[in-house]
Order: sequence, then C-alpha cells, then structure tokens
Amino acid sequence: MTTEAITVLGLGNLGRAVAEAFLRGGHPTTVWNRSAAKALALVEGGATAAATVGEAVAAGELVVVAVLDQRAVREVLHGVDVRGRVLVNLTSGTPDEARAVARWAGENGAEYLHGAVYAVPQTIGTAASSINCSGSAAVHERWRERLGLLGKVTFLGADAGRASGYDVAVLAGMYGLIGGFLHAAALARAGGIKATELTPMLLSWLVDLHPALVAFAEEVDSAAYAGGESSLAMNQSGLATLIRAAEAQGVPFAGLDAVKALVDRQVAEGRGAESLARAVESLGGSPRRAG
Ligand SMILES: NC(=O)c1ccc[n+]([C@@H]2O[C@H](COP(=O)([O-])OP(=O)(O)OC[C@H]3O[C@@H](n4cnc5c(N)ncnc54)[C@H](OP(=O)(O)O)[C@@H]3O)[C@@H](O)[C@H]2O)c1
Repeated sequence: MTTEAITVLGLGNLGRAVAEAFLRGGHPTTVWNRSAAKALALVEGGATAAATVGEAVAAGELVVVAVLDQRAVREVLHGVDVRGRVLVNLTSGTPDEARAVARWAGENGAEYLHGAVYAVPQTIGTAASSINCSGSAAVHERWRERLGLLGKVTFLGADAGRASGYDVAVLAGMYGLIGGFLHAAALARAGGIKATELTPMLLSWLVDLHPALVAFAEEVDSAAYAGGESSLAMNQSGLATLIRAAEAQGVPFAGLDAVKALVDRQVAEGRGAESLARAVESLGGSPRRAG
C-alpha cells in the first residue's frame, strides 16, 4: 500500500482515533484541532500538527473531517482553499446537511464523500467498526482501501445524503431501543427485579423478535398489512396493560403512550385486525427522491 499524506481535522474522540489508525497504517498524517493541545499526543506518535486549517488541508491529499456537527464543519472549512482535495466528512448530521457540504465542496473544487461511522473510538480500525459512505463513487473507489484502515467500508450511492439517511434511521432505532431498555429497567426495579437479572431475558426476547422486524419491513415497503399475526388490536390491549402496570408502579409511561397513540390511530380507523406494522402509517413520511 502506498502511503499518501492524510489530514485529519478535528481531534475529539473520533478524530483522534482516526488519526491514530492512519498513523498505524504508515501514512504521513497532519492534524488540526480548534484547541491545539489535543494534537500533542498525536505529534508524539508521529503526526504533524498544522497551525491553521489551510495549512492542514494543503498537507493532505485526503482530508478527513470529524468535528461535532455540520455547523462546525462549515466554520472550520469557511474560506479555506480546498481545490484539488478529497474531503471525507465523518461528522454526523442530517441528509440535507451532507448534501449542502457536498455542494459546497463541488463549488470549491473538491471531491466529496460523506461517511457515517458505526464504531466507538476504541474499535476504530477493528472488525467491530464499519463506515457507510455516499457521494463521489470515484473517491470511494480510489480511497476505500485507505478508509478500510478505519473499518469495513460500504458505499451506498452517489447521493451524498444517503449515508446520513441510513444513519438517522438506524440511530432513531437505536435510541428507541435504549429508551425501551431504560423503561424496562425502571419497571423491573420498581417491581423488585434487578436490571442485571432482567437484561439476559430481554436480550433473548429481542433476538427472537428479529424475524418479526424483517417481516414488518416487507409490509412497510409494500404497504400491505393484511398479515396480522401480531394485530394492532392485540398490541393496543398489550400496551394498555403495560401502561397500567407502569402507572401502578409509579413509573412514567410517556414512551409507551407515544407508541400506543400510533396504534390507537390505526385502530380508530377500523384497522385493528391488521398488522402492527401499519402503525408506521401514523407517522407519515412518504418516500423522497434524492435531490
Ligand atoms: N465518538 C464516537 O463514538 C462517534 C461515533 C460515530 C460518529 N461520531 C460523530 O463524529 C463526530 C465527532 O465526534 P467526537 O466523539 O469526536 O466528538 P467530541 O469528542 O465531542 O469532539 C468534538 C470535536 O469537534 C470540535 N469542534 C466542535 N465545535 C467546533 C467548532 N465550532 N469549530 C471547530 N471545531 C469544533 C472540537 O474541538 P475542541 O477540541 O476545540 O472542542 C472537537 O475536536 C460527531 O459528529 C459524532 O456524532 C462519533
């Protein structure tokens, strides 16, 4: 593998791990961070610290950005000459924000790939790390081996917002799960059950539930909900029981209430015998074409 010069802008938890992975891969690595002190440990490990963003961008053929949010990305890159550079933006944001940065890059003579990282800093560069990318196919093709130093790379298409589109959906699912876990732990605790006793059972049930989610996804995509093995009416009743139990145990039930409201709306429209997956229709969200 040739060792092209790489720049990393932003040395928070993710950026630091990214710079370390490129250094381990033998790449001359230039780093920049708003608070300069965060570069010191990396410099001891062989990185070069740039005094300005412009200097850092000029030093790297590939420029990886990992700052807090897209507003910070705009602030960091504002007025910087990025002509001829390849920008890989690993900063989380909305699909439209990613598209806007991609447009800005194109207007300013840079190529652009957006990346959504599925890892924690400690797992960057291991088999437990993956990056979903979208934007320039040429950048993906040219740099995927180098980006592979960070984790398994998957290209999702030319729309720079697509990786973020997956990301916000996956993270919404994750926070729903975490919210569910927190609620389960509180309910268990109120009933005298330890969270550590509950969790293996909860995990086992969630694993058993996976096939249902795959079936629900097919129903959502085809908007055909006649299946009904897990009907809206049955789930409406189940949710009401959970809410009564939470109330009796003095645990707030706002999360359950929100799910029940989605189900209630479909049942009120006379669809109680149809599949629970139909509750997605209470959320709206029609398919969008990339702009
Ligand atoms: N950590 C993870 O496990 C992980 C995983 C996947 C995705 N991500 C995403 O990666 C991005 C970075 O995450 P992180 O964990 O590295 O965050 P972090 O540790 O909080 O670091 C934030 C970084 O952004 C910089 N920053 C914030 N506002 C700035 C501004 N206005 N101008 C210039 N620099 C600014 C900070 O600079 P200072 O040091 O000067 O404050 C710091 O380098 C986020 O979008 C996050 O969602 C993180």
